[in-house]
Amino acid sequence: MQIINHQHLNLFDYFKTFSLREEFDLFSQNEEGQKTRIDYILIQNKKYPRFINEFWTSKQRQASSLHEISYRACFKPQLPRFFIELFTKENDTVYDPFSGRGTTIIEAGLLGRNVIGNDVNPLSKILSLPRFFVPNLKELEERLKNIKINDSAKSNIDLSMFYHRETEKEITSLKRYLKKRKENSNEDRLDSWIRMVATNRLTGHSSGFFSVYTLPPNQAVSRESQIKINEKRNQKPSYRNTREIILKKSKQLMAGVLESERSILKRAGENALFFNTDARFTKEIPDREVQLTVTSPPFLDVVQYDKDNWLRCWFNSIDEEDISKKITMSKTIDEWCKVMAQVFSQLYRLTKNSGWVAFEVGEVRNGKYKLDEYIVPLGVEAGFTCEGILINEQKFTKTANIWGINNNDKGTNTNRVVLFRK
Ligand SMILES: C[S@@+](CC[C@H](N)C(=O)[O-])C[C@H]1O[C@@H](n2cnc3c(N)ncnc32)[C@H](O)[C@@H]1O
Repeated sequence: MQIINHQHLNLFDYFKTFSLREEFDLFSQNEEGQKTRIDYILIQNKKYPRFINEFWTSKQRQASSLHEISYRACFKPQLPRFFIELFTKENDTVYDPFSGRGTTIIEAGLLGRNVIGNDVNPLSKILSLPRFFVPNLKELEERLKNIKINDSAKSNIDLSMFYHRETEKEITSLKRYLKKRKENSNEDRLDSWIRMVATNRLTGHSSGFFSVYTLPPNQAVSRESQIKINEKRNQKPSYRNTREIILKKSKQLMAGVLESERSILKRAGENALFFNTDARFTKEIPDREVQLTVTSPPFLDVVQYDKDNWLRCWFNSIDEEDISKKITMSKTIDEWCKVMAQVFSQLYRLTKNSGWVAFEVGEVRNGKYKLDEYIVPLGVEAGFTCEGILINEQKFTKTANIWGINNNDKGTNTNRVVLFRK
């Protein structure tokens, strides 16, 4: 993979002439890919370029299977990869203050960068750090076999709407085992891997999960809603073999990981820093440590990270209410901007001179707020230079084009990234 030397890069020209030359298919109108469209937006009397193209998603750039852990509002691994390759070299430090499932730090680890992660939600660390230490399958199988299932194990809350009694027994035994290992400070890498996969398999909409059919795995519904789903679908939880499911998902996660990547990741994991704090208060991270930040913040109060995660919190003995107090849930754009201004002042402090920040935001409330336009002045006030906004326009189906379906309508997925330089 080509690394572009950012020191000598004319960024404007690079984005302007960018085209997905690797991508060529029958339906492509132009074998060199689509050209970048550029327009300018005026923010506080200054013009900023906005580049629109399919910058980081194309069929050829498959993401590692290791990323396949679901999390609300996560971005595709191709997004951080694009910026990591553009602005960093091996051993540079890449940071994400709102890590989520760890997309940025895992991608950075796979590319041999040093990583720093942070998220106020403790589930973030549980779901991301174990993937730096991809286990040996035999050892994993052995460990799973040795975790005793206690015949009388029962959960402290009624989970019968999600699980068959035998499944609940296995989940509760595993929960207790992990809790004990943690309390005695002997939770090792295998345990952490099992914890991560089990947390990801608690509920979902196929037989690859522990539960009866429910919503996708990152959006656990309440017990009351699940009872309604069961009535409506006329379903009862059937037995699920939790060990087999954990093993199967582990194999899927590892499937695309090369031997060389295992050691690169392990090294990054051993040097990784991961904090569980508010992104506004990250004093543990030294000044000018970070070459590149790639991140996406919580968008106003769009995602209910606490409610969506209640079952994951239960399994990991985490106080869900405590998290909900800490997670930024801004009701108004003003409130949100105040929080982000403080985040930017931290980012400025910890970014190296000539370092970068790629800040991904969405359009919320049906496009009422274009958060990118609010973010530009916040970064500038913190001291950064804004190099522009990148909009990645991903077309889902090239075929849709030839049948005259408007790609800006249903078939497109956009990310907006505001790019800053220190
Ligand atoms: C949009 S998600 C990030 C997803 C991530 N890019 C990924 O690919 O998984 C936003 C994250 O910010 C976290 N968060 C919310 N408020 C925070 C705060 N004040 N400080 C740090 N993290 C926060 C949430 O827990 C959530 O994981």
